[in-house]
Amino acid sequence: MADDWNMPEGNLMKGKRGIVMGVANQNSIAWGISKQLAAQGAEIAFTYQGESLERRVRPLVESIGMDTMIPADVTDDASMDAAFAQVKEKWGKIDFLVHSIAFAGKDELQGSMVANTTREGFRRAMDISVYSFIDCARRASEIMPDGGSIICMTYLGAERVVPSYNVMGVAKAALEASTRYAARDLGPQGIRVNAISAGAMRTLSLAGIMGGKSLMGTGRDMSLLKEDTRMEGVAGAALYLLSDIGHSVAGEVLHVDAGFHVVGVPEMGED
Ligand SMILES: NC(=O)c1ccc[n+]([C@@H]2O[C@H](COP(=O)([O-])OP(=O)(O)OC[C@H]3O[C@@H](n4cnc5c(N)ncnc54)[C@H](O)[C@@H]3O)[C@@H](O)[C@H]2O)c1
Repeated sequence: MADDWNMPEGNLMKGKRGIVMGVANQNSIAWGISKQLAAQGAEIAFTYQGESLERRVRPLVESIGMDTMIPADVTDDASMDAAFAQVKEKWGKIDFLVHSIAFAGKDELQGSMVANTTREGFRRAMDISVYSFIDCARRASEIMPDGGSIICMTYLGAERVVPSYNVMGVAKAALEASTRYAARDLGPQGIRVNAISAGAMRTLSLAGIMGGKSLMGTGRDMSLLKEDTRMEGVAGAALYLLSDIGHSVAGEVLHVDAGFHVVGVPEMGED
């Protein structure tokens, strides 16, 4: 569960306002990050994908004393225009943005990447999971006159082959490259752009991947720490990157996966 950790409270985000995109339920990575940011004094405007999600997300948002919820479908320019206009009207400017959004069809997240990736599926995965980040970075930068910090969420499937991850691995590779290019473009404005590469976690998105649960088990067994990736660590990394203690960090992909990404060969028996 996303809920069971002793969250450090403090003032690292005091006076900072920003947008969190991608809370769908209490297990969403965006929700774990939001709770940690709020516990450090951040004010957050939440975007959500559609009416059906609003009912699930509103009680969460209210539970941390916030009330700004804005519908935003990242595939719809009019919806994105309206969402960012609403934030600008409310606060004038922001200090941070969390992009925690991805999508690929179930048919694409299984078996052979070569056999199962359709042109439309590829287009949709890249549009929702990659272009949306570039679009958000541009929109956010326009309301960050004093600099700021932007993060997105990625996974090891960008760098290495992971069964079933398929077109999403291709999209995450493009997302990580987009992070570096956006960091280059926005760096001179004092805007830091980074990505967190989280280990597999039990969320709605993971449930869409064939064998998703095994990704968690294998990740845990092969990891250096021999444990699941914890929301605590992912939210802590987000706090670091989004607050001023993350100064000078830009264009980075920060792995929070119990060390899984450095393992070349799993532990072997003695023979
Ligand atoms: N769960 C994992 O194991 C894991 C590991 C590493 C990275 N990630 C990444 O973390 C991010 C968040 O995923 P999660 O695991 O918290 O799952 P989640 O399902 O809780 O979050 C995904 C979010 O994307 C949103 N979304 C999808 N299409 C959208 C659209 N058209 N417009 C607006 N929003 C849209 C959904 O509403 C949802 O809130 C994703 O980028 C995912 O790839 C997840």
